[in-house]
Amino acid sequence: MLGPVILAASRSDTMRRVVSAAPVTRPVVNRFIAGETVDGTTPVIQDMADSGLEVTMDVLGEDITDPAEALHARDAYLKLIEALAPLGLGARAEMSVKLSSFGQALRGGHDLALRNITTVVEAATEIGTTVTLDMEDHTTVDSTLAIHSTLRERFPETGAVVQSYLFRTEDDCRALAAAGSRVRLVKGAYKEPARVAHQDKGEVDKAYVRCLKTLMAGEGHPMIGTHDPRLIAIAQELAIRAGRTPDAYEFQMLYGIREAEQRRLAAEGHRVRVYIAYGTDWYGYFMRRLAERPANLAFFLRSLATR
Ligand code: FDA
Repeated sequence: MLGPVILAASRSDTMRRVVSAAPVTRPVVNRFIAGETVDGTTPVIQDMADSGLEVTMDVLGEDITDPAEALHARDAYLKLIEALAPLGLGARAEMSVKLSSFGQALRGGHDLALRNITTVVEAATEIGTTVTLDMEDHTTVDSTLAIHSTLRERFPETGAVVQSYLFRTEDDCRALAAAGSRVRLVKGAYKEPARVAHQDKGEVDKAYVRCLKTLMAGEGHPMIGTHDPRLIAIAQELAIRAGRTPDAYEFQMLYGIREAEQRRLAAEGHRVRVYIAYGTDWYGYFMRRLAERPANLAFFLRSLATR
């Protein structure tokens, strides 16, 4: 019940000001955000790599309101790519990008976002790595998948994200399960209306399994973005059934969530990629993490109360 309330608050400017200013917020935020700057985050990336984990890097930011901010966001990714180059990790350290931070929602935003992301994908390709387009609320899906399709003409390894809570996603999975495609399947983190998305958690999970079956049986590279132990077990089973070797799919989890499980799966020989978010614009990302798990909110409120 609390999840939708927190998700609504995640898009409120007033709540953004209140939560960001609360002195106790920071330690809770730090659980999910690896750092504020690229230099501060590089040691985390190296540590993950040393533990046999791969990463996908998210420079925090979304829903920008003017084109100058879009260029700023693009440049932050270019700076990240510069910092990744000397680590020599290649595709073991890729990028995740929210197109709303590249101007997608502005007037003429589709083309603006395409121009900005193309520059980033070109730079990523030069250091031997890839980019995955995060998926945001349902109004952005057509534009994001169209940009993904355009990018794939020159950069076939560009990844897409699909959200099992959306009714349309089973069709999208069928379309995306083609040779060479990289598709991250997640449950979905935004507040969506009942006309476009399953509202019941059980239905979201069942849809996730149906999508997983399509992706595993297809010819692409499935990226299983979940912390849900049941779905992880089902994915392992489906991979065996589809005759996939461990390099032909990967698990993905968020920084700060189920870290022991991340390391356990990697130690068992699975590919595991950790989604690492960093930067100062953490509010929306943080609130979605609170919404996913009421226990996180309780922890946050307890720290407020004990001050
Ligand atoms: P579920 O929410 O059922 O959680 C399963 C278990 O995982 C919980 O019981 C708990 O143990 C643990 N857990 C989950 N969330 C937690 C949290 N916040 N804090 C602590 N423990 C937690 N969404 C989206 O809409 N667009 C996107 O582009 C992405 N990208 C993305 C990348 C990656 C790598 C991941 C893992 C997830 C995303 N998501 C996303 C978020 C996704 O849609 C979803 O909201 C979360 O993954 C939570 O769902 P689970 O599948 O983990 O299941």
